[in-house]
Amino acid sequence: MLARSALRSVSNARAFSSSASRQTKVAVLGAGGGIGQPLSLLLKTNPLVTELSLYDIRGAPGVAADVSHVDTHSEVTGYPADKLDEALDGVKVVVIPAGVPRKPGMTRDDLFNTNASIVRDLASAVGRVAPEAHILVISNPVNSTVPIVAATLEKLGVYDPKRVFGVTTLDVVRAARFLGGIADVNPSEAVVPVVGGHSGPTIVPLLSQTAKGKGITGEVYDKLVHRIQFGGDEVVKAKDGAGSATLSMAYAGAKFTDALLRALNGEKGVTTPTFVKSPLFADQGIDFFSSLVELGPNGVEKIHPLGSLSASEEKLLEACLPELKKNIEKGKAFVA
Ligand code: NAI
Repeated sequence: MLARSALRSVSNARAFSSSASRQTKVAVLGAGGGIGQPLSLLLKTNPLVTELSLYDIRGAPGVAADVSHVDTHSEVTGYPADKLDEALDGVKVVVIPAGVPRKPGMTRDDLFNTNASIVRDLASAVGRVAPEAHILVISNPVNSTVPIVAATLEKLGVYDPKRVFGVTTLDVVRAARFLGGIADVNPSEAVVPVVGGHSGPTIVPLLSQTAKGKGITGEVYDKLVHRIQFGGDEVVKAKDGAGSATLSMAYAGAKFTDALLRALNGEKGVTTPTFVKSPLFADQGIDFFSSLVELGPNGVEKIHPLGSLSASEEKLLEACLPELKKNIEKGKAFVA
């Protein structure tokens, strides 16, 4: 999707200008970081973005000046640390990759102490300045930062669960890539619904629901599931202290943003996993969950149930739920 939209932006610039009445201002908060920079670049190539607002406590004006020279139609502005409200003025979509990444040996939960307050403060500013904006949370631990955003907006009286998303797309991207490798097919033919949350055992790939994945069993299955759940660790280890996934995450973040923008612009049938306020396990006290979600002009349109699971997937889900519940409660408690 991303490649297609990037191509469209270059070759159909004129065609697009006739429909440029759809004004979509997108903000990236944390735009100076490892994810923020390539994400900003990819969003600059998306023809559905008409204005790009780049904010960071460090370096956003420089990133904006650089990205603004790319020959697509959108306007790019960078904002320094003290200009958060200006950066958010009139935005329709806010993507948040602000915060610290993991180092070797760390879990995503280890980031909580630093990132919880960063995300809370940014969400609070969005709630104040752009209460109608859709908020896409990349900052980890996503299982906790999404409930933090929700609770912060709730306190301000502006929470709409249809407009708050945890970006779990990297798990979906990895699953397709890894399964594609095993099945020796293009990843586009190996798309896997990945449900649950976004950390180790809370990541539940539903391989049985895909043509290429359902025959995989035994050790190959176990290794594939482990790789999907802990693929992030491969990157953290290889970067050796210099951070976690940034480029593949920027790709995934841009892919999810593109999906949402297409849906906001009226495209039907845009369905992708994302971590949202969900009724699926609410009776067990787990009120945020990632499953296939159809996106629409108002954000979340329809939350799909999980469908039928294999015995192995039932077990994965059993391991996911208590951990996810803990992560969600930790996020809520932080704001309360
Ligand atoms: P980074 O350290 O390279 O960049 C983070 C940026 O956030 C920095 O430029 C920093 O100045 C900025 N920042 C810090 N406090 C801020 C504030 N209050 N307002 C605005 N900007 C602020 O980190 P990286 O690698 O870009 O990762 C960012 C986050 O994304 C981390 O929490 C990481 O764990 C998470 N992540 C999430 C993934 C997912 O699948 N959802 C995948 C990979 C990383």
